[in-house]
Amino acid sequence: MTADPRSPVTVIGLGPMGAAITRAFVAAGHPTTVWHRLPGEPVAGGVVGAATLVDAVSASRLVVVCVLDHRAMREIVNSLGEAPADRVVVNLTAGTASEARATAAWAADRGVGYLDGSILATPDEVGTDRALAFYGGPKALYREHESTLAAIGGTRTHLGADVGLPALYEVALLGVMWSTWIGLLHGLALVSAENVAAGDFLPHATRWLERVVGPAVPGLTARVEQGEYPGTTLVHHAVVVERLVAASRAAGVDDALPAFLLARVEQAIRRGHAGDGFAGLIEVLRKPSAD
Ligand SMILES: NC(=O)c1ccc[n+]([C@@H]2O[C@H](COP(=O)([O-])OP(=O)(O)OC[C@H]3O[C@@H](n4cnc5c(N)ncnc54)[C@H](OP(=O)(O)O)[C@@H]3O)[C@@H](O)[C@H]2O)c1
Repeated sequence: MTADPRSPVTVIGLGPMGAAITRAFVAAGHPTTVWHRLPGEPVAGGVVGAATLVDAVSASRLVVVCVLDHRAMREIVNSLGEAPADRVVVNLTAGTASEARATAAWAADRGVGYLDGSILATPDEVGTDRALAFYGGPKALYREHESTLAAIGGTRTHLGADVGLPALYEVALLGVMWSTWIGLLHGLALVSAENVAAGDFLPHATRWLERVVGPAVPGLTARVEQGEYPGTTLVHHAVVVERLVAASRAAGVDDALPAFLLARVEQAIRRGHAGDGFAGLIEVLRKPSAD
């Protein structure tokens, strides 16, 4: 069964993210009820502020929770006492995969339907195409509420029945983002030590990311999937990374980032991956024992 796109929804938690999600539901025409532990400013016209948590949860079958952490989320739902039957909680509170699995088991004990989700977006991106939304949990529940969740915007993906996957994807993708950004900042530190303006470096960094770094992602991923790592060898990479470490030291710039990479490349070479390409580093990342 698929719910009416204008089916009512309740949002619990009105931090920046909960407020943005509320505004997105209202903009999409869903009758929206909110509950927040402290009375605050209205987040959008047309929102019904529930006087009590029970009123909020009674107003809609679909209850979206977006609070500080899983502990706060459980405290809130535990304080309900008797929950109205047939509620479905979509938890958009960030946490770990194991927290999501534990919360799902806890919800199952109480007969509450449960989907876990991760929204990779800032509050101002909620409801726009820029948001990435991942969901995990029973497919039938997801299908039932997908059209309502569409209001949150962006690209939606149901990752399967495992409620832990959205949190796992979120943190893995954030890791990709931070590693890329810190690499850029290291490059900027390096060139600015030689008085190159960041703006002069920018077009080259952008082209490099668009033409070389980004397009390499499918190939690297395919090699990891196949367990075979052709390409420019790690021995060759080691020579160039050593140069980056040396350039960082010479410029008085923090060399920890390239030194980390060099250590992993050398470790992979010691383990017999000298002739492998860059994707061969996955072998040491997966088994990081000291050697
Ligand atoms: N902001 C972002 O850019 C962003 C992006 C992606 C994901 N997220 C995730 O979205 C979730 C919400 O984030 P947020 O930015 O909206 O702000 P937040 O400060 O993490 O969440 C605050 C909300 O949780 C409530 N809360 C905290 N402890 C509570 C408790 N014990 N009982 C009841 N309510 C409690 C707060 O109520 P009070 O106001 O009364 O304290 C407030 O409504 C977090 O898990 C966050 O990691 C945030």
